Amino acid sequence: MASGYGSDFVDRVRAAVDMVALISETVALKRAGRKFRGLCPFHPEKTPSFHVDDAKGLFYCFGCQAGGDIFKFVMLRENLDFPQAARLLAQKSGIPVPAPRGPDGRPSEREALLAAHRAAAEFFHDLLVKRPEGAAARDYLAARGITGDTIARLQIGYAPDRWDSLKGHLTGKGFDTRLLVTGGLLSTNDERTSTYDRFRGRVIFPIRGVTGEVLGFGGRILGAVEPKYLNSAETPLYNKRENLFGLHETRQAIRDAGEAIVVEGYFDYASLWQAGVPHVVATLGTAFAEEQVALLRRFAGKVVINYDPDAAGASATRRSIELLVSAGLKVRVLRLDGGLDPDEYVRQRGLDDYMARVQAAPRHFDYLLGQAIRGKDLSDYEQKAAALREVIPALAQVPDRIERAGYVNSIAEKLGIDDDLTLAEIRDGVLKTPRPRPADARRSAGPAPAAELSESEARLIRGLLESAEIRNDVLARLGSEDLAGSAIEELFRAVEGLSEAGEDVSWTRLSEVLREPARSLVARLAVRSDPGISRDEALRCVESLRLRRLRRERDLLQKEMEHELSAARLDELLRRKMEVSRQIDSLS
Ligand code: CTP
Ligand code: MN
Repeated sequence: MASGYGSDFVDRVRAAVDMVALISETVALKRAGRKFRGLCPFHPEKTPSFHVDDAKGLFYCFGCQAGGDIFKFVMLRENLDFPQAARLLAQKSGIPVPAPRGPDGRPSEREALLAAHRAAAEFFHDLLVKRPEGAAARDYLAARGITGDTIARLQIGYAPDRWDSLKGHLTGKGFDTRLLVTGGLLSTNDERTSTYDRFRGRVIFPIRGVTGEVLGFGGRILGAVEPKYLNSAETPLYNKRENLFGLHETRQAIRDAGEAIVVEGYFDYASLWQAGVPHVVATLGTAFAEEQVALLRRFAGKVVINYDPDAAGASATRRSIELLVSAGLKVRVLRLDGGLDPDEYVRQRGLDDYMARVQAAPRHFDYLLGQAIRGKDLSDYEQKAAALREVIPALAQVPDRIERAGYVNSIAEKLGIDDDLTLAEIRDGVLKTPRPRPADARRSAGPAPAAELSESEARLIRGLLESAEIRNDVLARLGSEDLAGSAIEELFRAVEGLSEAGEDVSWTRLSEVLREPARSLVARLAVRSDPGISRDEALRCVESLRLRRLRRERDLLQKEMEHELSAARLDELLRRKMEVSRQIDSLS
C-alpha cells in the first residue's frame, strides 16, 4: 500500500484511535443523530458543514469538500504525508511502528466457507501426495502425464473412496457440518438425518476464484464409471457462470499476451499449462456464460477457442463465438486434427507443434465460413447462397464496421460471388438479423458527459462496500464501461481493482487508493445517513444504471439518424435503435 506499511498496521492504528476524540482536539463537535457536526477546521465558516461519521471512520465537509479518514485528517491538520500521519497516530496510541502484515479475520459465513475450502484442498492434496491411500490416484495422474510439479502448483488432490474422510477431518478441525453442507463439501441423505462426503474416489481439482481462494472442487473418477466428473454445485462461494478454471494462475500471462487460449477441461488446462502454454483457461465443459466473458475481458481482448474436435465442442464453439464477439473480443478458433483434444494433442505432438497450430488458427468468421462451405458444392448457386445465408448473422454481429467490411472480402473470395450480389445479400441479412447484443451497444455508446451523482449510484457504492455478497453479484453483472462518464465510474473501477487483487474493500481502503476528487466523493458518500441496501435493491440499481446507459445510447442513435444520408446506414441505425428500445422496455 501507499504508506509502505502493512494493512494490518494501518488497521490497528485505525482501531486504536478514537476519531471523535482526535477531531475534538481541533473542532468543537456536536452530536447529530449517530454522527457529529462542527465548524470546519479547513475553511472559514459560520454554520457547521463539517461532518464526522465515527462508525465509518470518515469525515467530510460539505463546504470545502475536504474529507477522508483519520489519517487524512491528521495529514491536513499537521500538513504531513500518509506515512508520517500513520506514525504520529501510532505513537499517540502506543502501537509499535511498523507492525507486520497479516490476515484480518472477519468472521462471516463466507470467511468460514473459504476456510473450510482451504482446509479441504490441503487435506485432499496431502492425501494424494503423501498417503498410501493416494497411490492409485498418483498412478492415474502419472499415467496421464501430470507431473509432481503440476500437482503441487495446482494443488491437485485425491478424495478417498470413503463416506466420512473429509467429514471426519473438517469436523475434527471444528467446522460445523451445516456449514459444510452449505458449501457443498458434504451431502445429506434424503431425510436430512445424516451427512457424508460429496467427493469420493476422485482426483480433485480445486477451483479458485480469480484472486486465488478455493471456491469449489471438481473431481474426476479414476476409472470409467459415470459420472466422469463431479463438480461443486452452486454454493454461496461458487457459481460456475462466474469463474474460469485456472485464471488465477494464468491471469498475468493472459494480460501480457493480450490473449487467452480457452479449453474445455481440467486436463486440457493442466497439460497445456504444464507443457508451457502460459495463457490458458478452462470453461469446464460449457460454452461461455456472459459473466465469464465479462471476467475474461478484464484480462485480454483476444481469445483462441480450442474446444474438443467433436460435435459438442463445435456447438459450444459457436455459442462461445457469439458471446465473445458481441462483447467486443477478437476471437480465433483452433480445431485440432486427429480427433485429439488439447490435452492429448500437446502430449502426443509437443509444445512447438501446438503453438504453431495456435498461430495458424483462423479468425472466427473465417472458421464459420469454412464450416458453412463444408460439404457444399459452390458451383451450385443455391448451395452457394445457402452458405452465404448461414454466415450472414455472424457477420452482422461483429461490432466493428471495418472488421465487418474485411469479412465481406473473405466471403467474396471464398464463395466466389461477385460483389454486388454479395452486398445485396448481406444487407438483406443484416436487416433480418434479430439482435446486436448489449455489449455491442455499449461499445458504440461512447463516453457520456460527466454526470451528477444519482441516488442509485450512491446506494450502489454503499452496497459494494458494505457487503461482499452484493459486491460479488454486482461485479459479475456490471462493468466499469456501464458507468462510463458517471460520477461513480472511478470509484467503481477502484472497487473492481481492490476486489480483483483480493484486497480488503472498505470505505477507508477505497479512500486510500483514490485521488481527489474521487476521494472526497468517497467521504461524502460515507457520511450520508441513508439506510443500507439489500441485494435485491443493489441488483435493481444495476438495472437502473444499465437503463440509463441504454437511454443514452438510444439518444445518440437518434441524433446520428437525423444526420445520416445513406439509406443502408440509416436502416442499420434504425434496427439498432429498435433493439435498444426493446432492451429499455424489457428493463423498465
Ligand atoms: N465435465 C463435467 N462433467 C462431466 C463431463 C465433463 O463437468 N460429466 C466437464 C469437466 O470440466 C471436463 C470438461 O467438461 O474437464 C470436458 O469434458 P470432456 O471433454 O468429456 O472431458 P475431458 O476433460 O477430456 O476429461 P478426461 O480427459 O479426463 O476424459
Ligand atoms: Mn480429455
